[in-house]
Amino acid sequence: MADYTKEIERRRTFAIISHPDAGKTTLTEKFLLYGGQINLAGSVKGKATARHAVSDWMEIEKERGISVTSSVLQFEYDGYCINILDTPGHQDFSEDTYRTLMAADSAVMVIDASKGVEAQTRKLFKVCGMRGIPIFTFINKMDRDANDTFDLLDEIEKELGIATCPMNWPIGSGKGFKGVYDRQKSCVITYSDTEKGTKEGEATEILLEDEDRLLQYIGDEAEQKLLDEIELLDGASAVFDLEKVRAGKLTPVFFGSALTNFGVEIFLKHFLQMATTPLPRKADIGIIEPAERDFSAFVFKIQANMNKAHRDRIAFMRICSGRFDAQMEVKHVQGGRTMRLSQPQQIMADERKILAEAYAGDIIGVFDPGIFSIGDTICSPKDQFMYEGIPTFAPEHFARVRQIDTMKRKQFVKGINQIAQEGAIQIFQEVNSGMEEIIVGVVGVLQFDVLKYRLENEYNVEIRLENLPYEHIRWIENKSEVDLDKLTGTSDMKKIMDLKGNPLLLFINAWSVGMVLDRNPGLVLSEFGRG
Ligand code: G4P
Repeated sequence: MADYTKEIERRRTFAIISHPDAGKTTLTEKFLLYGGQINLAGSVKGKATARHAVSDWMEIEKERGISVTSSVLQFEYDGYCINILDTPGHQDFSEDTYRTLMAADSAVMVIDASKGVEAQTRKLFKVCGMRGIPIFTFINKMDRDANDTFDLLDEIEKELGIATCPMNWPIGSGKGFKGVYDRQKSCVITYSDTEKGTKEGEATEILLEDEDRLLQYIGDEAEQKLLDEIELLDGASAVFDLEKVRAGKLTPVFFGSALTNFGVEIFLKHFLQMATTPLPRKADIGIIEPAERDFSAFVFKIQANMNKAHRDRIAFMRICSGRFDAQMEVKHVQGGRTMRLSQPQQIMADERKILAEAYAGDIIGVFDPGIFSIGDTICSPKDQFMYEGIPTFAPEHFARVRQIDTMKRKQFVKGINQIAQEGAIQIFQEVNSGMEEIIVGVVGVLQFDVLKYRLENEYNVEIRLENLPYEHIRWIENKSEVDLDKLTGTSDMKKIMDLKGNPLLLFINAWSVGMVLDRNPGLVLSEFGRG
């Protein structure tokens, strides 16, 4: 075995998914605190950035020359090397957010205890489900009045279709929050608010059988409720099973409060033990094991430079096997070329660090002279294989694009195609209409503004966008078996094609999808495009 096995095995690469405001940033800050990355919480990323209005966002992108979205944080903790991939929420939610999950080996799902499962979590969870990666749940904000604990778990199971296994159990919430009961150790960890502290507060652990102390700490009522709930829980909840966790079929659930720094380190410790080392990945020659091959990686995100002066792009790669060093020659399989990667860097939240080396599990960003596409494989020159492509995710907003000055047709087509190639937007044509009628689909509405802005600034083309009412898109999986002209649709259905000529269907109403499936036996539709 190669001598870098140890380096690979100590890596944990995960994404945090949540609905905006559930506490993802706060939790990340606390993680970094434990890693000694920052001295005081509150400085992880320009949190304000994420909340800026569109115009400010553009300015920030321009200034930095690189998106502040989907960045990577790397830190060390307890012998582990941890990579956190940020999945931006807020209005800059885009296909990149989904793609980031293709580069992660597990996901941490943060849920606001007073809100339960929310829209964005639901969407991101779908992608995790598709990949079958382990999901760890942190139910946050227990220092605020929370929903009933059983109801919260029920909601996760029903809405997301994953079994839950509470690792600890909250005692009260809000002003009455007393701490959590650790099911493994059968003890109560009392709540302490250490918001301003740099480490988790001195928690007092009280064994369940130590009734007097327990009574003293949490009171009669809370104690009785806890005992009842434990009994119920032991009878009703799923048994912990690491294999099921790793297959993404069971989520361990933890309760805590990121803001007051309660339950975060316990969560991190458990998480690191349960989460997998960098996962093997499917390629056309079979499964590639991270420690058994030389360097290989795939491109999961391309970020165009918003700065007009330097039109460079950054390609983000997830290393899947071996060790990378900046001097080595690599092969870009799709391009059929051997080369050195230009200025490999680790893109942190607000800084870039030139890298000397990196290992499977790590993410690197390299300058891309326009040769990489999403999903491309990079490997050692002596190897020849391709990683499985990254699916195209269903856009949820659609608009017809009209060019204002039709004389600039060439620039328009070039610009819109390039932007689509980066994966910021998807473009479609109406069936039988050619490039005259272009429909743009985006995952997050902000991408419409980005498209307009970039076409104007980079290609000198003005466009008008006419919003379309469609919200649901489906790829036809078995296109060779389906005669598009004979398909029996619904009145709100529209037939379109992607740039590769794949047929798709657009719908205004969700229920129409089921109706079309009913009316056309044998038709197979999918929410993900297969590249
Ligand atoms: P996000 O990245 O998921 O969008 O959430 P973020 O961490 O920014 O948290 C959203 C808000 O929730 C913040 O308040 C944050 O302080 C608060 N918060 C996070 N975790 C907890 C928790 O465990 N308990 C309580 N009570 N609040 C929590 P804000 O007022 O919007 O921002 P700020 O002005 O305090 O920074």
